Amino acid sequence: MPEDTLTITDNRTGATYTVPIKNGAIRAMDLRPIKTSPDDFGLMTYDPAFMNTASCESRITFIDGDRGILLYRGYPIDQLAENCSFLEVAYLTLHGELPTESQLKAFEAEVSKHTMVPEFIKRMLDAMSPDAHPMGMLAACLAALATYYPDSRHVLDAESRWLQTVRLIAKVPTLGAYAYRRKRELPYVAPDPELSYTGNFMNMLWKMTEAKYQPHPVLARALDILFILHTDHEQNCSANAMRSVGSSQADPFASSAGAVTALWGPLHGGANEEVLKMLDQIGSLDKVPAFIERVKKREVMLMGFGHRVYKNYDPRARIIKRTAEEVFEITGRNPKLEIAIELERIALSDDFFVSRKLYPNVDFYSGIIYQALGFKPDIFTVLFAIPRMTGWLAQWRELITDKEQKIARPRQLYLGYGRREFVPTAERG
Ligand code: CMC
Repeated sequence: MPEDTLTITDNRTGATYTVPIKNGAIRAMDLRPIKTSPDDFGLMTYDPAFMNTASCESRITFIDGDRGILLYRGYPIDQLAENCSFLEVAYLTLHGELPTESQLKAFEAEVSKHTMVPEFIKRMLDAMSPDAHPMGMLAACLAALATYYPDSRHVLDAESRWLQTVRLIAKVPTLGAYAYRRKRELPYVAPDPELSYTGNFMNMLWKMTEAKYQPHPVLARALDILFILHTDHEQNCSANAMRSVGSSQADPFASSAGAVTALWGPLHGGANEEVLKMLDQIGSLDKVPAFIERVKKREVMLMGFGHRVYKNYDPRARIIKRTAEEVFEITGRNPKLEIAIELERIALSDDFFVSRKLYPNVDFYSGIIYQALGFKPDIFTVLFAIPRMTGWLAQWRELITDKEQKIARPRQLYLGYGRREFVPTAERG
């Protein structure tokens, strides 16, 4: 009879151990009894960068990287992008079920009630240089809000957790828009509660002297789709940062400031900014083959390509490519698209990329749309952070209510010096 167990023979001692297999995994702690002597610490696993370690059980997002499948709470990403608003998907991500009409209305009203940010945030942004990176501004504002909402430290209280969740989802577009306006040295625009989540974001970004800002419906919908695609992506670097900081029971404002800084890096959310810089650097279609050769010689990376989990076309990149065409009908075609398409065409037929299963990821085409919408590259990662706040919060809420979770604290393999005696300065040499 097949059994859901793994039998291990320790060839150091000849001892045999049987450990249970559940959900396709063994528990690392089940290896601890494997010892060479009673005072041996016991066997550990070594997994830099978590290449093959599940750090949690989760019910939020499913990715099948080999087949290019992405599901939020079981629903395929393309169906959600086609049919839902961002807040509908946010509700699904947080609660596990799609909202009824009245649940959605109530959630929209709740979010819209919390969109304002305290006045000191504007003064804080004004104190920063307009040259400051907007991701730094966003992280600083989130950390500062932790000081303004001390009640957010009640992380074990379900009611408080929900209040902070709504506050953060409501305020992050305001903070993002204010970082954008600070960089342009423009006055801050108050949120408009009559507009949708993305419509209001556009209002806070782009309203000038008009009495009421009217978002272009096609562009607002495109932004909604981009937000849906960025909502969550299971245990990526920033979600892991959110969980890791949150595991110390830090409040969710402070934890999400940590997640923002993790997202900022060029290997994660910062890649969308790097893609645009790369396309600028390539400049024209005829320079694409030479650039690909430089990638293959490992002089440069092909930004927006490759993924830890996807070893197939990222389904989000496919939806973004389609959405780009709709945006270009309004804004005019972004000439960078031709360079991106040519890069993709050559890369996908070249053995270097094919053998390593390197496909375009979400960041490859998103920047091209953002630029067509009038954004400069330095704000792109903020546009990723705004919807991802919902994913971070869903991950954090799952963590806090998971009885098995404790403060995150990995082990290490210590390979440094053993104990040695201190040497006074004069005797060192
Ligand atoms: N350009 C050139 N070569 C690459 C690239 C790339 N973009 N990505 C991976 N490779 C090569 C890599 O050098 C390695 O080759 P070899 O086996 O010969 O040493 C092989 O492909 C496997 O790559 P890896 O570094 O082991 O993969 P990883 O899972 O550690 O890294 C990644 C994943 C996303 C960090 C990486 O692919 C990368 O740096 N891509 C460019 C940055 C980027 O687009 N990031 C956005 C990721 S998706 C959205 C998000 O997270 O924000």
